[in-house]
Amino acid sequence: MTTKGKHALSLNIVAQCSKSKARACLMTLPHAQVDTPVFMPVGTQGTLKGLVPDQLRELDCKIMLGNTYHLGHRPGPELLEKAGGLHKFMSWDRALLTDSGGFQMVSLLELAQITEEGVKFKSPHNGTEMLLTPEKSIEIQNSIGADIIMQLDDVVHSSIEGERLEEAMYRTIRWLDRCLAAHQRPTEQCLFPIVQGGLNAELRKKCAHELIKRDVGGYAIGGLSGGEAKEDFWKMVKLSTDLLPEDKPRYLMGVGFAVDLVVCVALGCDMFDCVFPTRTARFGCALVKTGQLNLKNASFAADFKPVDAECPCSCCKNYTRAYLHVLANTETAACNILTVHNVAYQLRLMRTMRQSIIEDKFPDFVQGFFDDMFPSGQ
Ligand code: GUN
Ligand code: ZN
Repeated sequence: MTTKGKHALSLNIVAQCSKSKARACLMTLPHAQVDTPVFMPVGTQGTLKGLVPDQLRELDCKIMLGNTYHLGHRPGPELLEKAGGLHKFMSWDRALLTDSGGFQMVSLLELAQITEEGVKFKSPHNGTEMLLTPEKSIEIQNSIGADIIMQLDDVVHSSIEGERLEEAMYRTIRWLDRCLAAHQRPTEQCLFPIVQGGLNAELRKKCAHELIKRDVGGYAIGGLSGGEAKEDFWKMVKLSTDLLPEDKPRYLMGVGFAVDLVVCVALGCDMFDCVFPTRTARFGCALVKTGQLNLKNASFAADFKPVDAECPCSCCKNYTRAYLHVLANTETAACNILTVHNVAYQLRLMRTMRQSIIEDKFPDFVQGFFDDMFPSGQ
């Protein structure tokens, strides 16, 4: 499948909510047609923890994330080139997106150090000093071959203010230009810039203004998954989507709590990713419309209902809460079964939102969603 035009991505707006900035689009990528708003499950070493690519296909997932930091190390760019890219290597013929790696290093490794050249870090595998430059990140992402690739950005924690925040924002723009210059496969892989600027409205606006001068296929909003106050978080999302062009997809990075997905779709975001649904499954937690069920809890020991009677996934069709309660305390199979359900929950939430936007009933959906999540009197 190929896409027309100079970018490896095209966006058709299918419907626009009349009361909010929510929209339903069709995003065409080299390996898939993706309905948005979309949630993209996160894989690290070429698969989701607890799932195999086949199960994702069964859930009708069209796009998933891979990780440059992990994949760059193992299997490594040379092996990936030999394998003909990550799609072939992992037997996933649908769309892929890779993050640039810097964010993961800074959040995972205390020893990471950022200079103008790139992100310096000690390899956790053999202790040698390594440097991830914008050019290196793009080189690795070009060999992985994902449909969407991300610029290397200078990400600071959302509590950082002042000079360091300003430096990170301007450096992100300089690194974007180095990434664009290094990108070897622009007609096959779409490179997204990332709006940074922390919780500072002026810096974020400046950043967005700079990024939109570049000719790219889509934009991401970063630096907002660090536990900041919701009010600040939503304000930064809104002022970013207000400035980003309507005809390009907007990807809010690292956001995946159901409430945030609903609010940020209303604010005009189209794409999301987060490890939360898959991580919480590994802790025995199932996502449901009222929040979460911790299946390790003794209250489920004799509960013979499915996790969610309305969910069509294989977990809810086949197993009871009581069975999962036993597994969750002893077996890794619980991780697989609950991961299927949690990914199914996220994908269904996005599809339901999309359908409500198409029918121009998104405000009713939002009302119903919050009534379920926060029932009155509780
Ligand atoms: N994942 C979550 N937030 C971010 C971010 O700000 N930058 C990058 N590169 N990845 C992220
Ligand atoms: Zn289910």
